Amino acid sequence: MTEAVAADAAAGPSVTAPDGGGAGGWLRLAGIHKQFDDGTAALSGVELTVARGEFVSLLGPSGCGKSTLLRLIAGLDTPSAGQVIWQEPPKKGDIGFVFQEPTLLPWATAGQNVALPLRLAGHGAAARREQAGAALAAVGLEGFSRHYPHSLSGGMKMRVAIARALVTAPPVLLLDEPFAALDEMTRHELNDDLQQLAVNRGLTVIFVTHSVAEAVYLSRRIAIMSARPGRISKVIPVDFPAPRASGFRHQAEFGKLCAEISAALRAG
Ligand SMILES: Nc1ncnc2c1ncn2[C@@H]1O[C@H](COP(=O)(O)OP(=O)(O)OP(=O)(O)O)[C@@H](O)[C@H]1O
Ligand SMILES: [Mg+2]
Repeated sequence: MTEAVAADAAAGPSVTAPDGGGAGGWLRLAGIHKQFDDGTAALSGVELTVARGEFVSLLGPSGCGKSTLLRLIAGLDTPSAGQVIWQEPPKKGDIGFVFQEPTLLPWATAGQNVALPLRLAGHGAAARREQAGAALAAVGLEGFSRHYPHSLSGGMKMRVAIARALVTAPPVLLLDEPFAALDEMTRHELNDDLQQLAVNRGLTVIFVTHSVAEAVYLSRRIAIMSARPGRISKVIPVDFPAPRASGFRHQAEFGKLCAEISAALRAG
């Protein structure tokens, strides 16, 4: 899907990352610029390194280029300048992508929706059924394979979308505000399931959200983006071991970090 180097370095990549490079650089975003054909400059000089198995959130104002950046990382689009550099180039099926809307096919069952990436990759029916069933079970939807999307709740639909992203067992998971439309309780449940999956599978996760609290709860580091054209203005570590339990949300350190991050967002 994505090449090791996703675009020519027209502007030349910078050699050191401003986030301190402490993440190890398994994935490196080097001097990423993105200008769309209509002249909109969405991103300008994005620098970030991500370690293998790390959970990093992107937080920033609406329109600062978070979705654009995620698409560039996924190889769904190419930077105008700069590079997306992987230490180990991802192969087809190595990057799972979860969009803000579950985007399920309404005429297909949950199992068929989850199996879609396998179908596109040419896997046989028996393997598709088995792997889709396992992916649904991994997100707590065992037994829902034959259900159609209209008979599932919002949270269940999002679980199906996550199962579809995980069905190829990708080491990398990119999520674009996946829980924004859900009520708080469901959102907390899905936060816990996501972090459990990430820990159990050693996933590298890049998670876009507008929720400061959600970012603090889930992330090892939080990258704050400035207003459009976006760049990473600050990277804030959340030094608490994962997986975290819901009590973490009530700790004084949690509130302190949320306040620090909100201030960084306001500063831009
Ligand atoms: N295909 C496109 N053509 C032209 N402009 C685009 C295109 N896609 C995005 N943009 C513009 O690029 C900027 C960044 O968009 P993007 O969707 O990445 O922002 P975002 O940070 O994800 O916003 P939100 O938080 O609202 O989802 C916006 O000004 C948007 O209008
Ligand atoms: Mg977006």
